[in-house]
Amino acid sequence: MRDITAPESFRWRRFVDVFEHTVGLAGYDLVIPPLLEDIGVFTRLGEATDVVTKEMYDFVDKGERHVALRPEQTASICRSFVEHRPTTPFKAWYAGPNFRYEKPQRGRYRQFDQVGIEVLGSLDPYVDIEVIQLGWTFFVALGLRNVELAINSLGTPDDRARYVAALHDYFESRNADLSPESQQTLLRNPLRVLDSKRSQDAPVIAEAPLINSYWCSEAAEHFEVVCEGLNAVGVPYTLDLKLVRGLDYYRGTTFEYRGGTLDSAQNALGGGGRYDGLVADLGGPDTPGVGFAIGLDRTLLACDDENVFAAPSENADVFVVDIGDGSDALTVCTELRAGGIRAERSWDQRSMKAQMKAANRSGARFAVLIGESEREAGTALIRDLRSDEEQLSVARADLTGTLISRLSSLQGASS
Ligand code: HAM
Repeated sequence: MRDITAPESFRWRRFVDVFEHTVGLAGYDLVIPPLLEDIGVFTRLGEATDVVTKEMYDFVDKGERHVALRPEQTASICRSFVEHRPTTPFKAWYAGPNFRYEKPQRGRYRQFDQVGIEVLGSLDPYVDIEVIQLGWTFFVALGLRNVELAINSLGTPDDRARYVAALHDYFESRNADLSPESQQTLLRNPLRVLDSKRSQDAPVIAEAPLINSYWCSEAAEHFEVVCEGLNAVGVPYTLDLKLVRGLDYYRGTTFEYRGGTLDSAQNALGGGGRYDGLVADLGGPDTPGVGFAIGLDRTLLACDDENVFAAPSENADVFVVDIGDGSDALTVCTELRAGGIRAERSWDQRSMKAQMKAANRSGARFAVLIGESEREAGTALIRDLRSDEEQLSVARADLTGTLISRLSSLQGASS
């Protein structure tokens, strides 16, 4: 778990702003679920998944309730849907931290942030297309170029069950060739063996049966519409028939956005898919769902690697230098801030020299200086910290207006 300090913290805020803008254009509404839920909300993610069995931060609270810090937000959104029953289709977006007790490394943390969307209440393949496209549009908006979208379909629950059985039989027949870790995984969840990155498993996985032989016609048609829709809007993708996701609720369309610059174990920048049974599992009406989540921490690492979406510089506009007791800086900063100007000041009655040093460090374009004579005359000096021009003396009453127009003409010139 990490502290996120400036300027990185500003970048985090902007990341969420860009996401909000992207999904806001498609009419998604913000939902803020609690960090803590009843454990039962998350056990639906799959008894055979690491997220549930090994990585959950769960405990019994003072009211003897077994609760957990959320490891993801899809289940929380579905639980919220069951509780509030909004009209469908229900289109939600979210942003915030999640907790998984994983082995920390670059791109993998125990507290990590996600942004995501979920659509509940429609089986239409055009929802899948919109969801996948919105994720893609977001990566483009960040400026990332090295992202690959992989898509697959796990078919209907029946298709998936037949496939899992076939996969189980196949891996059983090759058990001796599998790594000891994959032999263990096979006992719990044959699908997850496909995810192994161990070189010993690669030749066995290469010959494994593929899901598309198990799609019923309904699942195949749905997936075909999704692929054609992505083609139509120019979202590039690769078909990855071995794409299985880490959570058990998926059926039908699944997808992953992979960063080209990251280690293969941590290259999933985001992922999602259909989870048509989850709402019913949580005690709600039979309601289909589809969505994705994008990892903020990891996606920013990819941005660093590609030199895009840099941390913004949050400079002051004006630094107020008060040579007196500091009370003029109080009133001037108050007036400037009320006028929408980012104004900073020093404290502790420091020397003029020390205050000017602080002014330069703040990145402010202008310093406002108030000495003994300005105080008596009811004026202030405006000094442009990035040019040699004469400093300007203005009446205190005109100070905010003058600075607003100077700053806005500079802004106009730079844009
Ligand atoms: P997920 O694949 O478990 O899916 O997580 C989505 C993204 O969260 C990952 O691609 C990754 O970027 C980030 N992430 C996951 N674990 C960590 C970690 N320990 N450290 C840093 N980043 C991490 C879900 O969470 C599903 N709820 C997605 C979804 C939404 N499916 C349908 N709707």
